[in-house]
Amino acid sequence: MIFIYSGWVAWIIVVIVMLAKPLSILFRSFFVKIMPHRQWLGILLSILVIVHAVVFTANIGYELFFLESSYWDFTKYSGWGGLAFIVMIPLLITSNKTSMRLLKRNWKRVQQLAYIFFVAAGIHIYLANGQWYYTLLPIGIWLILYIVAIIKLRVSKKK
Ligand code: HEM
Repeated sequence: MIFIYSGWVAWIIVVIVMLAKPLSILFRSFFVKIMPHRQWLGILLSILVIVHAVVFTANIGYELFFLESSYWDFTKYSGWGGLAFIVMIPLLITSNKTSMRLLKRNWKRVQQLAYIFFVAAGIHIYLANGQWYYTLLPIGIWLILYIVAIIKLRVSKKK
């Protein structure tokens, strides 16, 4: 149960964190308030993903599943979950003010891994349970909002 719940709560937080940016550009008000909380939400969801992965490892008798080539199969949920986990590590490590100061402009580049994390985690869950409306739909909505938000920013810059 912890295994399933931690995965789902992590996914809900990912969706909120990812949607916050385009929604705050497009509608401001409530969504702007979420923006300063993205750092600790990111840390919380990473902890939940770690719990999800650790409980899975415990369930299979602490086998080093990620060393087996069959795990890295991208036609199955496993490869995508592993990819999401890997890109999550630099995101988690650099999710603090010291890293922001040290990495300067590169910090933003590292943070762009969040897009890969979002899509890989979404595909992982979709392939695990087949419910596209909880996974592929939020990714699609995010993509549309993101494009519209970029257009809005460009238009307002030109004015
Ligand atoms: C190395 C990393 C990961 C491992 C080993 C892993 C393992 C698994 C496994 C084995 C399942 C299938 C469960 C089943 O159908 O019985 C699963 C499903 C799931 N995973 Fe992961 N996962 C990883 C990464 C992630 C990430 C990054 C997220 C979310 C941010 C996530 C969220 C979920 C969710 C929500 C499910 C669906 C549970 C359901 O069937 O309702 N997982 N995971």
